[in-house]
Amino acid sequence: MSDLQKQIEKRRTFAIISHPDAGKTTLTEKFLLYGGAIQLAGTVKGKKNSKHAVSDWMEIEKQRGISVTSSVMQFNYDGYCINILDTPGHQDFSEDTYRTLMAADSAVMVIDASKGVENQTRKLFKVCVMRNIPIFTFINKMDREAQNPFDLMEEIEQELGIQTYPVNWPIGCGKEFKGVYDRHKKEIVSFIANNGQREVEAVKADINDPNLSALIGEDHRQTLVDDIELLDGASYEFDMDKVRCGKLSPVFFGSALTNFGVKPFLENFLQMTPPPLPREADTGVIDPFSENFSAFVFKIQANMNKAHRDRIAFMRICSGRFDKNMEVYHVQGNKKMKLSQPQQLMAQDREIIDEAFAGDIIGVFDPGIFSIGDTISVPGKKFCYSGIPTFAPEHFCRVRQKDTLKRKQFVKGVTQIAQEGAIQIFQEPSSGMEEVIVGVVGTLQFEVLEYRLNNEYNVEIVMEHLPFQYIRWIENEEIDPKALNLTSDTKVVQDFRGKYLLLFTNSWNINWALERNKDLVLAEFSRG
Ligand code: G4P
Repeated sequence: MSDLQKQIEKRRTFAIISHPDAGKTTLTEKFLLYGGAIQLAGTVKGKKNSKHAVSDWMEIEKQRGISVTSSVMQFNYDGYCINILDTPGHQDFSEDTYRTLMAADSAVMVIDASKGVENQTRKLFKVCVMRNIPIFTFINKMDREAQNPFDLMEEIEQELGIQTYPVNWPIGCGKEFKGVYDRHKKEIVSFIANNGQREVEAVKADINDPNLSALIGEDHRQTLVDDIELLDGASYEFDMDKVRCGKLSPVFFGSALTNFGVKPFLENFLQMTPPPLPREADTGVIDPFSENFSAFVFKIQANMNKAHRDRIAFMRICSGRFDKNMEVYHVQGNKKMKLSQPQQLMAQDREIIDEAFAGDIIGVFDPGIFSIGDTISVPGKKFCYSGIPTFAPEHFCRVRQKDTLKRKQFVKGVTQIAQEGAIQIFQEPSSGMEEVIVGVVGTLQFEVLEYRLNNEYNVEIVMEHLPFQYIRWIENEEIDPKALNLTSDTKVVQDFRGKYLLLFTNSWNINWALERNKDLVLAEFSRG
């Protein structure tokens, strides 16, 4: 095997998704501890002690205690090179999560054992299904009162439409949590709470061991024997092919906080999850092990560090090896270039890198040339990776600056934040850039916009909520939007490319517009 192949083969790039508070940050932190990337629990997160989460770097995240934007973490464990993509748990950022999932080869879904499948899990899960990537489930907080594990399995199967295969099975829960039974190794790992650092002590015992009652109690022993019999008879069989296409989710029970079940999960997961996957491009499928470097931009973030005032484009390397001195080709810009200051990120910490491989995520300095979805390849190789769809905004505000002298900063701010994909901006046909109409997928984005304009661009704004709920692009260019027969509460606006679109307050008005304007063709997405 060549060095390139070895490097790519050992890469595992995955995203962690969960409903807020299910324990995603805690689990991530334990992974990092195992990988030696951090030495102390609480470095990633510690709302109660003053240390801030490594992955929660934005001010607004710190203030609200939520993970707003996604970050990337890389560490090595057991011969693997692991890239974890953290995703925002808040539903208002599902678009950001979607883009991040585009960069992942698999997903870990963390579920709170007492709550089961929650709203946000459902939404994020749908996004994973759209990509057909393997999904691994970690049922967390078994040290607390939990739902019946069979009910949890059924809920996942029913609600999310995926088959489940429990790799281990819990013995009791809460105060009565005794550990898990590993169905592959056919042994019990008994629970010893360990709030401390790396290793949890595991006592291993066979299910037929006569001393088992002494270890977990006769009631639990009996329940376990019955449960396993039922599982072996009735549950889905383990099928790696189904796992790889996201149809069967291997399930693990544990408790991230007490460090129980995390190591076996990580080890099993690393074995089952695939190395970098081939990707669809307009010229066909691109092999990750190809000698030729290629990548696509899945995220753009300005002003990550106020002191730097910079803009970073995050790229997922899809094939080959990246070298910091190499000449690359930006397909959409039709330009050869060198990528400036390529770096890997560990939340706030950045490290300039010399090389990276398929599966890795790199951030490069972006002077304003990249857009989300852009493809980077090597000169002579012209192809585009399949685009990242844009979600239709559902909430709208009219936004203007308080101080008209700050027009320049205002325009720069809203334009840059729109380029990052956090908001979409529209204008009324005859108005200037003094005020814009902002559309977002989730309303928290308005707060982020206000906060960032104030904090990063020194602009105070006034926002006026607008009652629109639906957006449609006008497909036929020959139509004069002013001549359309529309309800009085339908608004004609233009996007940044000058394309016309309509904002509607309800779906009835959309039908009205289509019925009264027979030639009108409306589209839910902009074709770019
Ligand atoms: P999130 O990133 O998915 O939002 O969840 P996070 O890890 O922040 O965990 C949410 C809360 O649940 C935290 O408590 C965390 O300590 C707790 N938790 C995580 N895993 C477990 C577990 O296995 N067992 C138990 N009992 N609790 C768990 P918090 O008090 O809200 O946060 P903090 O102030 O302690 O950080």
